[in-house]
Amino acid sequence: MCGIVGYVGPRDCSDVLVSALTKLEYRGYDSAGIAVFDDSLIKVAKSKGRLKDLIDKMEKEGKPSGHAGIGHTRWATHGEPSDINSHPHSGKRVTIVHNGIIENYKELKQFLLDNGRQFLSDTDTEVVAQLLDYYYDGDPINTIQRTVRDLRGSYSLGIVFADFVDTVYGIRCESPLIVGKGKDESFIASDVPAIINYTKNYYTLEYGEIAILKDGSVSFCDLYGKPLAKELKTADWDEKAAEKAGYEHYMIKEIHEQPSAVKTTITPRIENDMVNLTECSITDEMLKSFDRIFIVACGTAMHAGMVAKYVIEKIARVEVIVDIASEFRYRNPLITSKDLVIIISQSGETADSKAALKLSKEMGAKTLAIVNVKGSSIAREADMVIYTHAGPEIAVASTKAYMVQLSVMYLFAFELAFSKGKITKDKYIEFTKALASTPEYIEKTIEEVKDECQYISTKLLNADSLLYIGRGLDYALSMEGSLKLKEISYIHSESYAAGELKHGTISLVTEQMPVIAVVTQNDLLEKTVSNIKEVKARGAVTIVICDEHANIGNDVADYIIRIPQINPLLMPMLAAVPMQLLAYYTSVNRGNDVDKPRNLAKSVTVE
Ligand code: F6R
Repeated sequence: MCGIVGYVGPRDCSDVLVSALTKLEYRGYDSAGIAVFDDSLIKVAKSKGRLKDLIDKMEKEGKPSGHAGIGHTRWATHGEPSDINSHPHSGKRVTIVHNGIIENYKELKQFLLDNGRQFLSDTDTEVVAQLLDYYYDGDPINTIQRTVRDLRGSYSLGIVFADFVDTVYGIRCESPLIVGKGKDESFIASDVPAIINYTKNYYTLEYGEIAILKDGSVSFCDLYGKPLAKELKTADWDEKAAEKAGYEHYMIKEIHEQPSAVKTTITPRIENDMVNLTECSITDEMLKSFDRIFIVACGTAMHAGMVAKYVIEKIARVEVIVDIASEFRYRNPLITSKDLVIIISQSGETADSKAALKLSKEMGAKTLAIVNVKGSSIAREADMVIYTHAGPEIAVASTKAYMVQLSVMYLFAFELAFSKGKITKDKYIEFTKALASTPEYIEKTIEEVKDECQYISTKLLNADSLLYIGRGLDYALSMEGSLKLKEISYIHSESYAAGELKHGTISLVTEQMPVIAVVTQNDLLEKTVSNIKEVKARGAVTIVICDEHANIGNDVADYIIRIPQINPLLMPMLAAVPMQLLAYYTSVNRGNDVDKPRNLAKSVTVE
């Protein structure tokens, strides 16, 4: 997803912008550019490709030199990745960078063409630059206000006006934008990691709010120019948390951070072996009142919801419907005021999940957000929020965020089951104690299976397609294993309920198709083993992930990855580890850009 930065202060602006953009690389991009006030004139440098290409270009053609400007990494939506389509885009007196989508850009472009404007690029962004220019009346706020009135979509903008030298404007309309404040300097950025090397202090802009960065200070107003007082926040992590700390990739670093992320997330919420979610405004009375639960999310977060469904239905006996946010929002779902809708999101800014939350509220349901990013849109808009404490997740492929989402869903499930009287106090304590011990077992799992996963990944290297199979909780987990592998290795893979294979999909199985089976649920072991035998008999290389005591031998599996045994309900938190590692090493072996897989963005803030 595109990344915006802006800077006003005493440092070399081009250097700050490029360094801040480096920290947003994780969002995914295909071109980059900056615009800086150089001798009171706005100078633009932009290039298709990586930031390195932009730096090389500036070395050859001259780097803009000054103390105020804006920068951008582009993830192409309108128009192919090219120098021309890269941001910044300009009108005569206005230059902008843009994150998000302008839905009505075609009609606005026609209006501007009819008024004699000409366009260089295929982007919706240039339409905004030209529209700002069209409305420009010497007053930046008035100009922004008139322009925003015409725009439809979700977006944020960084803007510089030629007549307002060394001043940067930022506006948020849905797509996230934060404003950093250091000593004598200020920043705008799409996300906090961009500025964390310079300052930990930042403001979060809300919809329709404008930031004005000038003379080392920052002020805020609404679209009508009314000044706003905003609360300064402080990031509770530093630049080290957003760096690789000696690991080759962020993904492997984040896999190793899982034990501490889970510990930080669950420890404050377990007191005397009992779950305490009252700080999140979740009370027993309220839990008792829900008839049904919807869990709505996208991608990995939705997969965490799938695991939660099996757990909640099993121990709390409450019906759980898991929905893909992009489907939920358009199918007029049957929600009532007696339902609880849980939105799971690492970023808290995913467009479809946000829309699902809005719809649920409109339909009268109570809403609970499980979110990693503090103060994000979903966290602010839901009735209740449980924060996961994974710290910044930089790799596009989610690992630690998934793990902490699982841990929170377990806390919730235990509390719900106990409040509803579906489990005894002894059982409840047994579960919470087992959950409290997962960080040490996750750590043990990582250490025990790392080398084996690295070795087994060499057997997947040349596969064109793979199958993940499992039953029950193992099926829910294999969905995530399959997604992880395909998104970073680019090998096609599917997850299948093991018992469903015979109803069609087994016809795909040959010696060319490895099958990864997850078998952590002993009550279903024999059934899944039969399914593994069926695929093995058709020539598939079989890789089994099971617990250390499982009665599975080499007659069934070509490779066995054994993980520690804990309470069966919690096994997904351990079995996720070899799946992440298999995906990671396969991607490394194939020479892929592990942390920034092609075509993907970390945070999907547009539909
Ligand atoms: C895959 C991945 C995505 C996200 C999805 C939702 O590794 O990270 O599938 O889980 O885009 O993002 P959030 O959780 O930010 O709403």
